[in-house]
Amino acid sequence: MSSVFLPIDGDSNSTKERFDASTHTDRLTRIGSVARESAVLVGVYLEGRGELGSLVGTPLDELSGLAEAARVCEVGRITQRRRKPEAATYIGSGKLNELKELVNTVDADIVIFDNDLAPSQTKNLEEELKVKVIDRTELILDIFASRARTNESRLAVELAQLEYSLPRLKRMWTHLERQGVGGVGLRGPGEKQLEVDRRLAQKRILDLKSELNTIQQRRHREVAARKTSRTVSLVGYTNAGKSTLLNRLTDSDVYVKDQLFATLDTRTRRWHLPGWGPVLLSDTVGFIRDLPHHLIASFRATLEEANQADLLLHVADASSRNVNIQIDAAFQVLTDIGIREKDTLLVLNKIDMLEPDRLEVLLAKYPNAVSISAGSGLGIENLAVAVSNILSKEFLDLTIEMPIANGRLMALLARDGEILSKRYGEEMVLVHCRIPQHLVGRLRQEKEIQGLPEKPADLF
Ligand code: GTP
Repeated sequence: MSSVFLPIDGDSNSTKERFDASTHTDRLTRIGSVARESAVLVGVYLEGRGELGSLVGTPLDELSGLAEAARVCEVGRITQRRRKPEAATYIGSGKLNELKELVNTVDADIVIFDNDLAPSQTKNLEEELKVKVIDRTELILDIFASRARTNESRLAVELAQLEYSLPRLKRMWTHLERQGVGGVGLRGPGEKQLEVDRRLAQKRILDLKSELNTIQQRRHREVAARKTSRTVSLVGYTNAGKSTLLNRLTDSDVYVKDQLFATLDTRTRRWHLPGWGPVLLSDTVGFIRDLPHHLIASFRATLEEANQADLLLHVADASSRNVNIQIDAAFQVLTDIGIREKDTLLVLNKIDMLEPDRLEVLLAKYPNAVSISAGSGLGIENLAVAVSNILSKEFLDLTIEMPIANGRLMALLARDGEILSKRYGEEMVLVHCRIPQHLVGRLRQEKEIQGLPEKPADLF
């Protein structure tokens, strides 16, 4: 996305002014422009960032996968451990020279940092290296931009991109300054243009937020309206196998690909859970460590299904050497979006690719997890039983007697619970139903019902 149309303040219908960032700064044009370039990857691992220090294998493998997802080809990599980042260039001067040499030797078009760079650091690095420099956030935004299919995910990505780019618009100023347009303390045309750009970008951000807010409220109502069925949401690290599991459980055919962030939107399907009945199962955007916070905020509407789910199935790729880090990272995202406290069942997937002793180690660490292979179907029955048991915990199986004429009560049972069978007498009907625990108190107020448990203690 090199340019977006932004309405001028106070005139959103008639005049449109093109906010064409590409004429001012190359920063915004990078989104979507990194395709088929060759990249040197750089990873700086800071002391005290325990979880990264414990990455198994080559720490830059994930970044390499992300680069591939953005159709960028890795041609070299450099890593460094530091106590803290160098203020001007993130890496120290010795490492910078080494990087410069490597970039020239392999003729790279772009350098990608696994870390988040400040706008000034990007600028300094580019001046030194004479190639584009982007950071992990920008790369992830790029992938999201290329994968967004629905109106909602496009808006979410555009918002995240604009929020990321806004502080970086400053670079245009220095770029114009170098060309002698304006100057420090002078109100030259460059600075004026920068102000226009900023104002337009801010206006667009406000519009996008309001549009996404409306979508989220609508989504909230839609999801709440479906609440008559139990809902289960698949969450977890990108590429863990969530879509494959959705397909396996619901006999559907949603898009599955061995690539990061194949899915950005929510898909909901009916799952006939054996021993329970139908539940709604949804699959949504994958998580990743250090998921840009702009993105998390923008994707709130998409994550609404998970937000209102009765149960989260946290799918993890047990065959990954970094499964523990990925599990922690997914829990971190759940915390960030405020749903860490929900009932969650950890599902260790891809066990077909795992040595049995490795699975034992994982199950010792996560004793409540269920191990499966969504690909081969191994362990799927155990998963169904575990889900059914968890959902049943909140429910009561009851047989109650009530007057046939009380249609209002029957409608309440059908709406908030599930009617499993009815046996009609002359005036009374015997109803076998499954109802949420919280409904019992409400039903006790109905004089005409018989067969409810006497005391709360009987419920458990
Ligand atoms: P995102 O959309 O990136 O969040 O991915 P996802 O979690 O939905 O993963 P997806 O279902 O797209 O699967 C990712 C890759 O893992 C695909 O190539 C699948 O075929 C593969 N995969 C999924 N489950 C299994 C499994 O049980 N065993 C094996 N061997 N591969 C699996």
